[in-house]
Amino acid sequence: MAIAYQQQELHIEQLAASSLLQRYGSPCYVYSKQQFLANFHAFEQAATGLDALICFAVKANSNLAVLSLLGKAGAGADVVSGGELRRALAAGIPAERIVYSGVGKNSADMQLALNAGILQFNVESVPELERLSRVATECGKVAAVAVRVNPDVDAGTHEKIATGKAENKFGIAWQQVDEVYALAARLPGISIQGVDMHIGSQITSLTPYRTAFERMLELVQRLQAMGHPIQTIDIGGGLGVLYPDTKQAVSIADYMALVREVFANSQCRLIMEPGRSLAANTGVLLCQVEYIKQGPQKRFLILDAAMNDLLRPAMYGAVHDVWPVRQVPERELVRYDVVGPVCETGDTFSLGQLLPELHAGEAVALGQAGAYGAVMASFYNTRAITPEVLVSGNQSALIRRRIEVDDQLNWDQLPDF
Ligand code: LLP
Repeated sequence: MAIAYQQQELHIEQLAASSLLQRYGSPCYVYSKQQFLANFHAFEQAATGLDALICFAVKANSNLAVLSLLGKAGAGADVVSGGELRRALAAGIPAERIVYSGVGKNSADMQLALNAGILQFNVESVPELERLSRVATECGKVAAVAVRVNPDVDAGTHEKIATGKAENKFGIAWQQVDEVYALAARLPGISIQGVDMHIGSQITSLTPYRTAFERMLELVQRLQAMGHPIQTIDIGGGLGVLYPDTKQAVSIADYMALVREVFANSQCRLIMEPGRSLAANTGVLLCQVEYIKQGPQKRFLILDAAMNDLLRPAMYGAVHDVWPVRQVPERELVRYDVVGPVCETGDTFSLGQLLPELHAGEAVALGQAGAYGAVMASFYNTRAITPEVLVSGNQSALIRRRIEVDDQLNWDQLPDF
């Protein structure tokens, strides 16, 4: 593991967390390049022999440096906005490795993607399909399309990140798929290329995948029998990773064995959109203890990082590891509520967390912060936006500077009335 204790201090690759904090200030996100590459290669290796393209879900971590290192390793990108598309292209990911998902694509972003020549639009509704055909015709292009199908499976994940049930806003309902493909075949700006699904995120069992994959394969065969030229099957992302409260993660090898079992003879090119499983364990949010506050019932560990830096605990009740940067074995264990300084009760990282006694000014790392961390940051409570740092061996580089409050004050303007 690239993030581990060495001589009783947490290291990111060969660099001590305390030296990184000293150099870049607190709080800061730090990622391991080696871990990103190891995760990507694990996917690639497991897919050996399959015609598969691994498109990193940019929403999980959209820093240009991260996209660039994955792009150089051979990854494509799954984007969900014109902004993410611009990031992927700016990072050097070739357009022919980019797929574009999302329920609300606007015309300007469609145009951008058409002009860039992306691999595939994953279309989520009839009005979107009609609009895409119109926009493509206006630009003199034809859009390569997969219809995102909602396979109506319960992925057994948190309700805010389940996407493949009939009640969710995503994809085309199972019963409507045939007519949507028939429409796509008639529209002048559309060229049918494949099918697409994504059933949710942080999925910790293979069972929902098996159900969904089998349904998709059946669908592909039916659509092909109807004469639709289905050549790609995009199976989305969603692999669960280990957080402290996760009982089991889905191993990449087991997942890919299932993919192989179901799709190996499909004669289609497979597209995958993993986000979390490529990024979560690559990063930590380094921060410091601002205060220890002893209440009548509880002891609070008040950090200088908050929900505006790492939103997942407040938004999903997610739990991340809390690691003291320095291990001091003789310290007694104490229960803390680990909280941030934002004025919301929800600004809580963990309740009743057992930790070696800590003091103000000491450093702490929040684990599994490489996915859905920095990308979900806000400037709530007019706090600075936390910088991001990439480590490779014994080198480190600032890959996004801190967006200071001074910057933010300049964003606002006083009206002249
Ligand atoms: N493809 C599509 C179309 C998606 O909507 C998503 C995630 C992915 C791929 C990547 O899924 P992954 O492999 O990362 O599970 N902010 C939430 C996660 C939201 C995921 C939304 N869609 C969190 O922090 O848990």
